[in-house]
Amino acid sequence: MSYSPYLLKGQKALVTGASSGIGEGIARSLASAGAAVVVNYHSQAQEAQKIVDDIKAANGEAFAIQADVSNEDEVKAMFSQTLKHFGTIDILVNNAGVQKDAPFVDMSLNQWNTVIGINLTGQFLCAREAAKEFLRRGVQPQISSAAGKIIYISSVHEVIPWAGHVNYAASKGGINMLMKSIAQELAPHKIRVNSIAPGAIKTPINKSAWDTPQAEAKLLELIPAKRVGNVEDIAKAAVWLASDESDYVNGTTLFVDGGMTLYPGFADNG
Ligand code: BGC
Repeated sequence: MSYSPYLLKGQKALVTGASSGIGEGIARSLASAGAAVVVNYHSQAQEAQKIVDDIKAANGEAFAIQADVSNEDEVKAMFSQTLKHFGTIDILVNNAGVQKDAPFVDMSLNQWNTVIGINLTGQFLCAREAAKEFLRRGVQPQISSAAGKIIYISSVHEVIPWAGHVNYAASKGGINMLMKSIAQELAPHKIRVNSIAPGAIKTPINKSAWDTPQAEAKLLELIPAKRVGNVEDIAKAAVWLASDESDYVNGTTLFVDGGMTLYPGFADNG
């Protein structure tokens, strides 16, 4: 996929959880659309550095920062490093997320807290730091018609209940109202806040659901489009939401799921 390198020219972006999967795809795509990118990672330093090196090799600008998004001090440090390096920030992609699955009655408090901490509290902490900078700086019309853009990476599980994954589904349901409430509060300041809700996308987080033909066939029963998504499907939506092409889009969730939220089980039932 190639983008116009002018689409996000002069913009500075931070993508959390960008050392693999959807975050990696988004970081690479924002860079090819002209943005300078911070590749945040938690534990995969080498992978993050490889993405930075690839972006630089293509004449882009990037650097990697280690931070646990659920830790307030680390998030604050990551944003001050970003501002020191890039001067400001225009785009935040709140992507970092994990699954810690367990049957409900066996789910430990630690599994619950870890998922809520990273997937929901982490998205709150990063959005707050980004919003402070957007408000401080205001609109720079030559860069973007918005003072800043926040993109949440949610999931179809912000609306589809998910047995055995209640911590994950609760975190994504929480993102929905977090996103909308922030969007409502910040809209008068020309800050746009939206979510992307991916369906089943081929990444390490759900490998067991697609890495054998049997597993993939079972997964496809849930996807009217009859293909498992790839990270580019999500990255294209992220580039659009980050750009002024979506200037009038605020407080909405864009489902990129091949129709998973159409409840395909009802096609011949009910
Ligand atoms: C989850 C994946 C799952 C997909 C569809 C995503 O949010 O992380 O594991 O395959 O939703 O159920």
